[in-house]
Amino acid sequence: MKENVSVYISQEDIKNKVAEIGKKITEDYKGRDGKLLLVSVLKGSVVFMADLMRAIDLPLSIDFMIVSSYGSGTSSRGNVKILKDLDINVSDYDILIVEDILDSGYTLSKLIEILKTRKPKSLKLCTFLNKPDRRVAHVDLDYCGFEIPDEFVVGYGLDYDEKYRNLPYVGILNFEE
Ligand code: IMP
Ligand code: MG
Repeated sequence: MKENVSVYISQEDIKNKVAEIGKKITEDYKGRDGKLLLVSVLKGSVVFMADLMRAIDLPLSIDFMIVSSYGSGTSSRGNVKILKDLDINVSDYDILIVEDILDSGYTLSKLIEILKTRKPKSLKLCTFLNKPDRRVAHVDLDYCGFEIPDEFVVGYGLDYDEKYRNLPYVGILNFEE
């Protein structure tokens, strides 16, 4: 089957939205005594992370995590294994998790649970895309780029079989005979 990608969110719209979220985060975290730490969950969020961190006009640190969800049935999908953990102790930090897309919410709800036990000063979540129709596990969302319907999207970090991450826009992946 051949694949093609149709543009869904343009480069221009992404640029404007990232600037808007960056501004909001800057306002919200200005004057706090904690240190801001952006935590990107690899790999999908790297592109958003790279743009968002430059849209925030505050001193900040970044770190990365790699997690994998495992279990065969739907109910056990909420198990998350940390494959790469944070490098620092987070007790002095305001953590902002930066995600590419919030789908079922299994992975993030578990990750948030794990990070909360480490007692950061605060913990918030910023996702580039949100598919509310697909949510199973409850997740509190603080910042969101775009709400999208239940379509499989690629580009701007998001992949299909590790492809398309480098597209500068978000596209819907179509299959043709
Ligand atoms: P969940 O919220 O635990 O279901 O996991 C979300 C993860 O599934 C994201 O971090 C993506 O890696 C992947 N994912 C979900 N929807 C899409 C999509 O439309 N395109 C590409 N990856 C997706
Ligand atoms: Mg992924």
